[in-house]
Amino acid sequence: MKVLAILYSGGKHAEEESRLLGTTENQLGIRDYLQSQGHEYIVSDDKEGPDSVFQKHIVDAEVLITTPFHPGYLTRDLIEKAKNLKICITAGVGSDHIDLNAAVEKGIQVLEVSGSNVVSVAEHVVMSILLLVRNFVPAHEMIERGDWQVSEIARNAYDLEGKVVGTIGAGRIGYRVLQRLLPFDCKELLYFDYTALPEQAARTVNAKRVEDLKEFVSKCDVVTVNCPLHEGTKGLVNADLLKHFKKGAWLVNTARGAICDKDAVAAAVASGQLNGYAGDVWNVQPAPKDHIWRTMKNPLGAGNGMVPHYSGTTLDAQARYANGTKSILENYLTNKDQEPQNIIVGKKGYETKAYGQR
Ligand code: NAI
Repeated sequence: MKVLAILYSGGKHAEEESRLLGTTENQLGIRDYLQSQGHEYIVSDDKEGPDSVFQKHIVDAEVLITTPFHPGYLTRDLIEKAKNLKICITAGVGSDHIDLNAAVEKGIQVLEVSGSNVVSVAEHVVMSILLLVRNFVPAHEMIERGDWQVSEIARNAYDLEGKVVGTIGAGRIGYRVLQRLLPFDCKELLYFDYTALPEQAARTVNAKRVEDLKEFVSKCDVVTVNCPLHEGTKGLVNADLLKHFKKGAWLVNTARGAICDKDAVAAAVASGQLNGYAGDVWNVQPAPKDHIWRTMKNPLGAGNGMVPHYSGTTLDAQARYANGTKSILENYLTNKDQEPQNIIVGKKGYETKAYGQR
């Protein structure tokens, strides 16, 4: 059996740090396991174009392992060519880089390691909210430059206490964000999700649901995006919706870049309609060098908290998603049932509610 894994290259960092399991060097720690069973294991970061390792080996691979961090985009065309493919495993959470409808049609299972990095992302969300609201990045850059001008920073620095914070999506990550925000004494915690939280869960975090998205964003000082990317969320935060945000609101998106319209966000930051935007996810990954989200700034020359896609790939998270990937593989190889929460597309089609299939 051929197992193909598209991972990111870790270079000298992965050679020095063996806990960087999600890299082409450390190979999710499953090479010995697979080879001891006589399987072929191809690992590469080369994923674009017809001559790439990805496109060459997808033709006869039975198992495809990918990560959202350096996504091997499994398009409908590639699925047509993948004559032997039975199962796609996402080492992490979020399988939007796979054409799920095409996978359903071809009877290809799609599994991910649900929950493996939800705490990692929730912590990053809280950090990103704080760094925007408190105007942290330009303050640090000023110090590195050797300057000291407190008023330049303080004129756009606020407390999180007393602000209204809302999450689009109150699933595993969104709910953990609400839990972590509770001690900050925000004025209100809100959520927008097409599923209501169980009453007790909502009470625990003191969160109110707003059912209309425009009304929801108009109430928030901070909006955080924590829903999956699917047909119903692509471009959800666009120029029209951004007009309904409070003037000077902050937006944090660690879910998927394409949920927010790239140019509309950049324009909203440039005009000050958004005071800032932060996150780690991009509409294309790796993001091109000239991607406007790398350098966009608000009218005060601040308000950018963008980083590469790493919130869900801390060393703690890598241990969890590498273990989870191995368990999914073991279940597949020994014909055992998969954990229900990990199944996005099962043997009989969609099995998750998160992707809007309800
Ligand atoms: P989850 O499935 O537990 O929760 C998703 C929630 O979004 C559900 O409550 C669902 O009802 C809701 N939802 C779906 N469509 C919606 C819509 N149109 N409007 C409002 N709510 C909607 O997923 P989890 O674990 O919380 O992850 C969420 C997403 O975060 C993942 O799909 C992935 O894209 C992203 N993620 C990013 C990571 C990173 O490293 N930046 C790592 C892990 C996940």
